[in-house]
Amino acid sequence: MSRQQHRSLVCLAEEMSHTLAVEKMNLLVLPSILLVISTAHAFQYAELAQYIDSHQEEYVEVLRNWVAIESDSSNILKRPDLHRMMEITAQKLRLMGGTVELVDIGVQELPGGQMIALPKVVTAQFGNDSNKHTVCVYGHVDVQPAKLEDGWATDPYNLTDINGNLYGRGASDNKAPVLAWIHAVEAYQALNMELPVNVKFLIEGMEETGSNGLDAMILAQRDTFFSDVDYIIISDCSWLGQRPALTYGTRGNCYFFAEVEGPKQDLHSGVYGGTVIEPMTDLIGILDTLITPSGKILIPGIREAVAPLSDEEWKLYQDIDFDMDNYKNKIGVSQLMYSNKVDLLAHMWRYPTVSIHGIEGAFSDPGTKTVIPAKVTAKFSIRQVPNMDPAVVKKQVSDYLHSVFAKRKSPNKLKVTMVIGAKPWLADTQHPLYEAGKAAAKTVFGMDPDLIREGGTIPIARTFQDVMEKSIIMLPIGGFDDGLHSQNEKISRYNYIEGTKLFIAYLNEVAQIKKTVM
Ligand SMILES: *[C@@H]1O[C@H](CO)[C@@H](O)[C@H](O)[C@H]1NC(C)=O
Ligand SMILES: *[C@@H]1O[C@H](CO)[C@@H](O)[C@H](O)[C@H]1NC(C)=O
Ligand SMILES: [Zn+2]
Repeated sequence: MSRQQHRSLVCLAEEMSHTLAVEKMNLLVLPSILLVISTAHAFQYAELAQYIDSHQEEYVEVLRNWVAIESDSSNILKRPDLHRMMEITAQKLRLMGGTVELVDIGVQELPGGQMIALPKVVTAQFGNDSNKHTVCVYGHVDVQPAKLEDGWATDPYNLTDINGNLYGRGASDNKAPVLAWIHAVEAYQALNMELPVNVKFLIEGMEETGSNGLDAMILAQRDTFFSDVDYIIISDCSWLGQRPALTYGTRGNCYFFAEVEGPKQDLHSGVYGGTVIEPMTDLIGILDTLITPSGKILIPGIREAVAPLSDEEWKLYQDIDFDMDNYKNKIGVSQLMYSNKVDLLAHMWRYPTVSIHGIEGAFSDPGTKTVIPAKVTAKFSIRQVPNMDPAVVKKQVSDYLHSVFAKRKSPNKLKVTMVIGAKPWLADTQHPLYEAGKAAAKTVFGMDPDLIREGGTIPIARTFQDVMEKSIIMLPIGGFDDGLHSQNEKISRYNYIEGTKLFIAYLNEVAQIKKTVM
């Protein structure tokens, strides 16, 4: 799309949302008159919203059934549960009359060389009207691991309502948002209202472990399932505060293994300590050269690649609903890296950072063990932002670690590998998809949403943007304190139910986007 086309598109969208705003006002003041002048396709938001409210308990029950399935994609022992989760998702969509496929995406090779079937990907379609836009909702129904012993207050697979919060693994990430989309479509159907756009679903079961096989599946269906898709909607993220939010960027991630190997076997520190250069000492030494205590990344070239913060961004961050104390309390620290909101948000979203995750081969059990590990492998990652390039970062990190290691003059061997290289994603917030999001938030919550980014990584967004050339919006409904991937994950009833209404309103707003210039 040219700049000019784009500008006229934005104008059109604005014009349209003004007209809609006027209609909504009429609806409030003079409902009977509006009824007379409205066409058959007038948006009956109140009826739909009321339908959602009156089916709230049912929606919580479905979520309970979904959370009860331990669809942990990282644990191969849970693979049968994951397969069942995909079947149940497909069945739910089938019962609604969708055109549903369970797409085989092949096998996963385990470290031992064994092969195990990947969970099938669910695709579904509702509506096939070429005069309408077609949106594709992406979501996932696999979850992170969770055990009661990890410090959960309730059984993570038994959805528990405490003061209007629904606790359970996967409740917010991403089962409730997937269900909210399904219920949004169901509500239109139940009230015999035509869907304002064609709705497709793409639901996978490997998101938490890197979406194995999904890219290939999407590419293979580029000219079939995806050929008529205009827009991709992803609801796999959260709000930042109490206000609804539209997410327009995510960080990427480069994940590294740094392995230091020394003696041919583990050694007794009393017998051999003092006579060998220990791999662990080497490893800790080089890890400590990655980042300073104040968060400055020391790997040459990384900071230079980062796009500078613009004045517009600075202003945008200033206005965002974000409570620093709340954030601090939520994570339970006495001090944050930055003491003002703009710096903190910028470092959360649009600057890179190094995180050290663990050391394989290191002694980590309770008690004392006087071992010198023979081989240790550090796991660390660097979050990626525009304009960093994972291929370049890979070389920068490897060259740098080898150079600092060389200075140690150690006889041990260092091996650096990059195992994940996911690019960041950034959307144009002037795109009609975002204008539609603002209008939908106004309808449901009566306020403008915050435009936010996400510090985490959703690699599939890049595939859709670069390879499939589709426009994407991230439309979250989860709360800022939902504890994704953590103990006591939850979603509030409020976010679940109002979020369903948001999706209903959003479909209507997308239908207003002018079709011809797309
Ligand atoms: C959608 O409509 C087209 C054209 O009428 C048809 O070829 C196609 O099979 C339909 N697809 C589905 C899923 O109904
Ligand atoms: C879930 O928790 C509730 C409340 O503690 C309990 O009554 C119920 O039996 C539990 N269900 C399962 C399947 O464990
Ligand atoms: Zn997720």
